[in-house]
Amino acid sequence: MAKIEDLIAQIPDERLRKAVAAEVRDLKKNKKFGLVFEEHLPETVRLPNLPVKVGDLVAKKREGGNQVWKVRAIRKGKADLVKPVEGYSTGADEGGEVPVAELVVVGSFGDSIYPALVPVDRIARGGPDKPWNVLINSDNFHALQLLLYCYEGQVDVIYIDPPYNTGARDWKYNNDYVDKTDSFRHSKWLSMMKKRLLLAKRLLKPDGVLIVTIDEHEVHHLGMLLEQNYSECTQQMVTIVINQKGVSQGRLARVEEYAIFVFKPDAKVDTHHDDLLSPDQSDQKRFQVPRWEWLLRGGNNSRREDRPNLFYPIHVDPTTKVITKVGEPLPIGQNPDLSSFTPGTVAWPLRTDGSYGNWQAKPSTLRELIYGGFVKLGGFDKKRNTWTILYLNKGSRGRIDKGEIRIVGKDAVTGALEVEYSSAEARQRNIKTVWHRGFHDSGIYGSSMLRSTVGKEVNFDFPKSLYAVRDSLRAIVRNKPDALILDFFAGSGTTMHATALLNSEDSGRRRAILVTNNEAEYKAGQELQKRGILPGMKQYEEQGIAESVTWPRCRNAISGCASDGKPLVGSYLSGRSLSDGFEENLEYFRLDFLDSDEVARGDSFKAILPVLWMMAGCRGEREDSKGSTPWFIPKRSPFAVLIRESEFRDFRAKLDERKDIEWLFLVTDSEENFSQMRRALGRRYQCVQLYKNYLENFRINLPEVLR
Ligand SMILES: C[S@@+](CC[C@H](N)C(=O)[O-])C[C@H]1O[C@@H](n2cnc3c(N)ncnc32)[C@H](O)[C@@H]1O
Repeated sequence: MAKIEDLIAQIPDERLRKAVAAEVRDLKKNKKFGLVFEEHLPETVRLPNLPVKVGDLVAKKREGGNQVWKVRAIRKGKADLVKPVEGYSTGADEGGEVPVAELVVVGSFGDSIYPALVPVDRIARGGPDKPWNVLINSDNFHALQLLLYCYEGQVDVIYIDPPYNTGARDWKYNNDYVDKTDSFRHSKWLSMMKKRLLLAKRLLKPDGVLIVTIDEHEVHHLGMLLEQNYSECTQQMVTIVINQKGVSQGRLARVEEYAIFVFKPDAKVDTHHDDLLSPDQSDQKRFQVPRWEWLLRGGNNSRREDRPNLFYPIHVDPTTKVITKVGEPLPIGQNPDLSSFTPGTVAWPLRTDGSYGNWQAKPSTLRELIYGGFVKLGGFDKKRNTWTILYLNKGSRGRIDKGEIRIVGKDAVTGALEVEYSSAEARQRNIKTVWHRGFHDSGIYGSSMLRSTVGKEVNFDFPKSLYAVRDSLRAIVRNKPDALILDFFAGSGTTMHATALLNSEDSGRRRAILVTNNEAEYKAGQELQKRGILPGMKQYEEQGIAESVTWPRCRNAISGCASDGKPLVGSYLSGRSLSDGFEENLEYFRLDFLDSDEVARGDSFKAILPVLWMMAGCRGEREDSKGSTPWFIPKRSPFAVLIRESEFRDFRAKLDERKDIEWLFLVTDSEENFSQMRRALGRRYQCVQLYKNYLENFRINLPEVLR
């Protein structure tokens, strides 16, 4: 082997020399057993905001694929392009002379690139004390690098649902869709996954858990990849029935997919009253949250004329959801003049086919039930133009008296009770490795749920069932109300939705960080390109998944309103109405890249600030600053930045006024000054040196990840 290393040393191009040396090192490891797959040229990323300089790798903006050139010279606004030595380009050897404006800088993974978060939008419904969820539109490799800077060893659970590599162009490698004809499709997938999984591992807490969902196309490869790269962890595979009808294609009907749970050494699974397999439905029922029944009578005697005294109006305040008044029965022969009420302020017993029905209680009884907190508003049904009214029936009220159902709270505005089965009732069991629950059906509780939240026209294949994700997360973080949850293949955003649902069930403060790229769905992307609308253009980006699916879904789920502002229609399994939304906060960012010189000069303060806010735990509504003052102390977040070192004394005095501050970012080029300031500040704070620490973090190449 000495000879080959001598030969390698003679390769003049540094990048090529290093790449060949790394390949040879790998070959020498002489693997005896395990997953062996082709390594690929590093993935690349387009960096549209960086200026094109001599020596840069660039791509032509108007071309898809992964043709990359090196800039040999720039003259009069035109770049002279040559094929880069590493051989990324598959086309012409020389790129010719191209206007600089038509080029975009390309970074290959492993180059030093400096990520920043550009705020795009936000929704705040969680109040000032609840930490913020975050959605990042980005390739997940760079987002993971950024997250490592912020949260190394701090994540409780990572849930990912990567592209399944079905051959149906469900993902891109280096800007190209991978399809059935690609003979390297498995190795490309493994190579892509390995890099991300290695970064992800460093994010997990010592008792953290990684959950990866997958189907038959890559399940065995993934299992081995995880075994090799998470060797200190324990793996268990859960089989989840997601489509009871099955898909057969002339062979056995497939009904399931898999979730591989990878447990770090200290990780545990929480018990639950539902083991997710046991078929004993009546048993299951007893262990669930008590059911709020429809006040509208169904079945026998449910027409108006069957019980004329039970046909009366219920007045509501649609904003607060308070039932304001119970009216008197309207005699047969008189019909309600629905147009005389402001829509949404009166509920009549209208049956699902629109005909007149009746309520289950007479007005005087209903008034008593409302007074006792046993009645609440469900969702607003657009079709019937009325509210669903829910109540705890006689059986449930009897069980409250017997102590079988506990009252755990009361809604401060509506006065409705919050109830759950008492713990004696809710026997805890170990969750099984086969899950068979109707609510894990990805059609009804995935696609339909997505349509209910975003709109019928939403273009996204195969979202997970909201409850399958909720149950996966709950198995790990049921007893961790402050858990940090990450999904870096977020797709339509089911994981944020499930986190919010879980929080609403137990008043948790868990927060989700979602990362997903803004690829357009394959066919939609092709159509756009045919019309000359290319990636990077506004019209194209608007059609991307992050922009057109993930953000609207997360925003609408929280607000409880559709994109046109109307209340969402439908309800969750618990009876909670979709239009209730969630008391959650969410900030939406796009990941961008900064010029390292600008960072070093301190010109990127505004761009880096969101990263500091993330590091400090996404607490308090994020505030902006250009960094032109000696220090920046946001009013609502527990961190402070010293911008002018010379003002340290006054900065320190200011800190004394804010007992909540936990994180300090000190801008100084001097290691020694940083240490002195840190000592002077004492142990109370987590101190970070800017911008040195930031720049160094991203300058480090990640050899084990990139090979
Ligand atoms: C199978 S979907 C996830 C679906 C999701 N669990 C849901 O319920 O909606 C995978 C998603 O990952 C995104 N994706 C693929 N490669 C990515 C990458 N390198 N970085 C970020 N997102 C990526 C795809 O665009 C797709 O939306």
